[in-house]
Amino acid sequence: MGATAAARWRTQAARALGDRNLVLVGFMGTGKSTMGRAAARVLGRPFADSDAEIEARAAGTVVELFARLGEEAFRTLERAVVADLSRRRGWVLATGGGALADPGSLAALRQNGVLLALSARPEVILRRVGGAAAGARRPLLAGPDPLGRIEALLAERASLYGAADLHLDTSGHGRGAAVEAVVRLVAERAGGVRRGRG
Ligand code: S3P
Repeated sequence: MGATAAARWRTQAARALGDRNLVLVGFMGTGKSTMGRAAARVLGRPFADSDAEIEARAAGTVVELFARLGEEAFRTLERAVVADLSRRRGWVLATGGGALADPGSLAALRQNGVLLALSARPEVILRRVGGAAAGARRPLLAGPDPLGRIEALLAERASLYGAADLHLDTSGHGRGAAVEAVVRLVAERAGGVRRGRG
């Protein structure tokens, strides 16, 4: 994409979002944090990541928190962080892959946000999250068959990610192309997303 076209998409994306947040949702390994940080830079907006916020507040990594407190306690922390993040205006937010399972979190994020669901093929996800060693950083993928786990969780969560406003498959994209695709999609479609949906 040429520099002029890129600048045009950037301006249109900013206008389409207005003071709403751009919220990246979707499964682990689909590029939410990487794309979120890069899109925020392109759009000149601040960026926050729910997992990073949880880790800062609880003074431990996601892996440690799962091991020390269990998944339920992690989800309680996640709900509180998402509630706080969704009150911001004009941010780019990346959420953990399970955050939308809480209906209150989904409603809060939709209230002042455009939700963009990133997706990728199961084999691509597995590669991005560390292959056979995926469980070392993603506790939900621990065990002998991480690909089977990914497929099962994707099936379970299809309707959650399906509730997003916009959708982008990042499987075939390198990082730069994916960010361009995000900005362009937002420019073209975010303006049509109704405001104030809870
Ligand atoms: C989870 C996804 C992770 C992290 C935790 C649980 C999930 O975040 O919140 O391991 O339930 O899908 P990423 O989607 O950023 O990997």
